[in-house]
Amino acid sequence: TKLPTLMFRTPAEADRHVALVVESLIRENNSAGVPTVLGLPTGSTPIGVYRELIRLHKEEDLDFSQVITFNLDEYFPMQPDSIHSYNRWMRANFFDHVNIPEENIHIPRGDIPVEEIDAFCEEYERQIEKAGGIQLQLLGIGRTGHIAFNEPGSSRNSLTRGVTLDPQTRRDAASSFFGAENVPHHAVTMGVGTILSARKIILMALGEHKASIVRKAVEGEVTEEVTASFLQKHP
Ligand code: GLP
Repeated sequence: TKLPTLMFRTPAEADRHVALVVESLIRENNSAGVPTVLGLPTGSTPIGVYRELIRLHKEEDLDFSQVITFNLDEYFPMQPDSIHSYNRWMRANFFDHVNIPEENIHIPRGDIPVEEIDAFCEEYERQIEKAGGIQLQLLGIGRTGHIAFNEPGSSRNSLTRGVTLDPQTRRDAASSFFGAENVPHHAVTMGVGTILSARKIILMALGEHKASIVRKAVEGEVTEEVTASFLQKHP
């Protein structure tokens, strides 16, 4: 199966394209009076999309009051208010600037006792199901080819669970943690199966350093629903 792959000349064009897909889905669902269920990533890749969605909210009345979100992952252990947490990152870069009701925001927890992780992850899956499933899942891709924190070797059917991070992934996160030794060894992540259950998936990759990673992913075993938006910095 060949994946629909869109290439853009600049990150801003890719951001606008993806934001438009999100906007159209929200406006359509709002008119029909049904909620919009989004799966959301962190990282440098989606930041432009979040900025554009915030602009659409502030300047073009895009209403997020019926939006339900599920974030992909969180480090473990991690306090939600830590400067390193994905929870805090999402609030600073998106949630604090749009009108998604607090009770509609779901982010894996890094601040629970380790023995509660399994029960938490089962409950996370149940909440996604209760919301009617993820309608649109946005994704970045890590250097090891990971989506969320599903490192190579993760099974296709894997669900939300506690995982061990690849040493490469920890090295990549070192600068934001002021040293690799401060990067947690573990995370709580949606599984590959959880992600592939989404009705539509947009995987974004920005910059030349992501080209070979995306090429491998696109040539590998992937599903039809995935749109890989691969952008070359220097086309
Ligand atoms: C982390 C996140 C992934 C993200 C990846 C790439 O590992 N868990 O969800 O896709 O980083 O990050 P960036 O977009 O900064 O390249």
